[in-house]
Amino acid sequence: MKYYSVAIDGPAGSGKSTVARRVAEHLGFTYVDSGAMYRAVAWQALNQSADFHNDTEIEQIAKELHFQLDKNGWLINGERIDSLLRSPQVSQYASNVAKTIGVRKILVAKQQEIASKNHVVMDGRDIGNHVLPHADVKIYLTASVEERAKRRLNEQQKRGYDGDLQLIMKEIERRDEQDQTREISPLRQASDAVRIDTTSRSVQQIVDEIVTICCTKMGGE
Ligand code: DC
Repeated sequence: MKYYSVAIDGPAGSGKSTVARRVAEHLGFTYVDSGAMYRAVAWQALNQSADFHNDTEIEQIAKELHFQLDKNGWLINGERIDSLLRSPQVSQYASNVAKTIGVRKILVAKQQEIASKNHVVMDGRDIGNHVLPHADVKIYLTASVEERAKRRLNEQQKRGYDGDLQLIMKEIERRDEQDQTREISPLRQASDAVRIDTTSRSVQQIVDEIVTICCTKMGGE
C-alpha cells in the first residue's frame, strides 16, 4: 500500500504546526510534529540536569525516550506533556539538541518509520530535504520576523508564560541563525517545495491553499 506524505518545513513561528495539524485533519492523515521530539529530548535533558555539551549523554537520552503517537499527538514516556515542551527554556535548548548528529539520526529514523506505515503530514525543518525527500507534497512556510514573534508571544501568553516582543524577535533571529547555519540538515527550502508567505494571511487561507495543492498532486493517483 502506498502511504502519502506531506512535508511542511519553515522557521519558528511561521505557522507550521497550526497549519499542518489542520491540513492533516482535513486529509484524514496522521499529524507528526517533529519539533516536539527535539523538544522532548531537551525537556528530559533539563530534568536530568544533563550536560548539553556532552553529545553522548544527550544522544543516550534520545535513545531511551519513548515516543508514542495517538490521534491527540505525542505521548512522551507515556505522558502528554505538550505545554511543558513549549516553555521558553525548552525552546532554547531544543535548538542545541537539534545540532547533535546522533540525536538527529535517532529521531529521523523514528519519523521515517511512522511515515512508512501511515499517511502523514509532518512538519519540521528538514522534512522535505532529508526525512522525506520523496514526499508527495512539499511546502515551505515563512513569515516576517515581527509577525512570527507576535505569534510566539501570543502562544506563550495563552500557555501562561509572559514575554517581551523585542526579546522574542531577537530570540527568533538567534534560533533562525542557529537552525540555518548548523552543519547537519540546516533549515533550507527544498528545491521542489512550494513557498508560502503566511504574513497577514489567515490560517484558513493557508490551509485551503495547501489542501488544494495536495488534492491536485495526490488526487490523480
Ligand atoms: O518547530 P519547533 O520550534 O517545535 O522546533 C524545536 C527545535 O527543533 C528548533 O530549534 C528546530 C529543531 N527542529 C529541527 O532541527 N528539525 C526538525 N525536523 C524539527 C525541529
